[in-house]
Formats: sequence, C-alpha cells, structure tokens
Amino acid sequence: MKEIRERLDEIAEERTQFHLNEVVPQSGAEVGEERQTGSIITQSHVYGRDEDKEIIVENLVNPVACCDDIFVYPIVGIGGLGKTTLAQMVYNDERVGMHFELRIWVCISEDFSVKKIIKAIIGSATGTACEDLELDPLQRRLQDILNRKRYLLVLDDVWSEDEEKWDRLKCVLACGSTGASIIVTTRSRKVASIMGTFPMHHLSGLSEDECLLLFKERAFGQEKEERPNLVAIGKEIVKKCRGVPLAVKSLGSLMRYKSQSNF
Ligand SMILES: Nc1ncnc2c1ncn2[C@@H]1O[C@H](COP(=O)(O)OP(=O)(O)OP(=O)(O)O)[C@@H](O)[C@H]1O
Ligand SMILES: [Mg+2]
Repeated sequence: MKEIRERLDEIAEERTQFHLNEVVPQSGAEVGEERQTGSIITQSHVYGRDEDKEIIVENLVNPVACCDDIFVYPIVGIGGLGKTTLAQMVYNDERVGMHFELRIWVCISEDFSVKKIIKAIIGSATGTACEDLELDPLQRRLQDILNRKRYLLVLDDVWSEDEEKWDRLKCVLACGSTGASIIVTTRSRKVASIMGTFPMHHLSGLSEDECLLLFKERAFGQEKEERPNLVAIGKEIVKKCRGVPLAVKSLGSLMRYKSQSNF
C-alpha cells in the first residue's frame, strides 16, 4: 500500500509539472465553439449537392400537401458527411429567402434544453441576445415573434432522442402560419423519426470524382501545377474516404503540408 501511495504521489507531482488541470464539464454548458455552426456557408465550393438542395428547396417552397402539423424536414447522415453544409445551402437559397418571412438558425448539439433553445431562437430571430427569463415569458416572447409567420427554422446537429422535450418545444413553435417549416440535421435516424413530419432526407457520400476535386482543392490550393505523383496518391486516399467530405478535406490538408515539405 505504501508503495502504491508513493507512486500515486509521484504521478500527482508529474501532473503539476506538466500544468495539467482537472476540468469538470458543466452540464448545460454552451455548445463547444468548434462545434457551433451558423447559417453562413464556410466552404468556398460545395461539390455534388445541387440535387439534394433542389429536392429540399422544392419541398419547402412548393409543399405537395398542406398539413396542419408543423412541417419538419430531417436531414440524416453520418458525421462529416455535409448535413450542416446542405442545410446552409438551402437556408441561403434565393427562393427560400423570398418564400419565408423569417429565417432562423440555431445550433443545438448535445444539450437539448428547451429553455436554452427558445432563448437561442429569440436571439437569432431578433439579432440580440435574449435575457435570462423564466420559461413562461420566454415562450410568450417566442410566440409573439413567430405568430402567424411563415418562418424557416434550422435546428442544426440534434442529438436528443427525448420525445417529451421535443413535444414541449414543438408546442411553442406551432404558432406559425401554414407552411412554417423546420429543418433538422442529425446523425441519428431515431431523432429524425421522432422529430420529422416528412420522410427523412438520407444524405449519401460524394462520388469519387467529387471527392478528388475537393481533395485537390485542399492539397494544391491555388497552385497551378499539380504534381502527377501526388494526384495518383490522392486518388488512392480518396477511395478510402467513402465519400465523406470532412475526411477528404482533412487528408487533403495533410497532403498540402507534406507537399510543401519533403514528400
Ligand atoms: N459537398 C461538399 N463539398 C465540399 N465540402 C464539403 C461538402 N459538404 C461538407 N463539406 C465540408 O466538410 C466538412 C463537414 O461538413 P458538415 O459540417 O456540413 O458535416 P455534418 O454532416 O454536418 O457533420 P456533423 O455530423 O459533425 O455535424 C465541413 O468542413 C464542410 O465545409
Ligand atoms: Mg453538422
């Protein structure tokens, strides 16, 4: 026991030498900055998503059937496949801008707190941070904003499979006019089936050709000359990315670094 205690003391001592601090994540904390998203497209060129965009925009601006229930359109796919990017393309489409009186973007991530989401929606709709009020005044304020409006709300990156919480939020959102719509992006089919009132949009991977274009953009940047040996390696790498743009981008960037050194 004595030996173990001494060893633990040594480890604790090393921890202070390396300046490692214990951090306990607070529940209900803000979405980590690196996971936060906004409505502005960050990708300079988006490959191979025109058809997906058309389908969603068409469904939003010319809904086939007018249902009384709020229109919730889920976009589903694995991490890094481009769900957020597709939602951004739809959000910024001119026809969508003309069709909806109000567009709101909220990044949800892992913490699905109804109060926090209502505050975020009010903040995004008004362009100013919402005060920390009790739930009831927040609900009323949100309903004043959405009341009888044809709004588009994007709930990006939803993880919660808690149906009860979604029902509580949905009741508050149900005050818009006919055609008010919500786009949900999620990795989870269960989330999509809980929230969706419309068949989910399964996002597929990019084709190898599209991946290669993205890879070259990252690996060679503005360079006019592509080195054939690097392109050949790129083609092999891209095959392993299975159409996931995040993987293609990351590996393309690594290649750029390598090609600038001694690849
Ligand atoms: N079609 C595309 N063409 C080029 N780049 C893309 C495309 N789709 C996504 N990207 C890029 O790939 C990365 C991941 O995309 P995005 O964040 O949209 O994925 P996601 O499916 O929302 O991931 P997550 O499940 O983690 O939220 C981003 O850097 C984005 O700019
Ligand atoms: Mg996303």
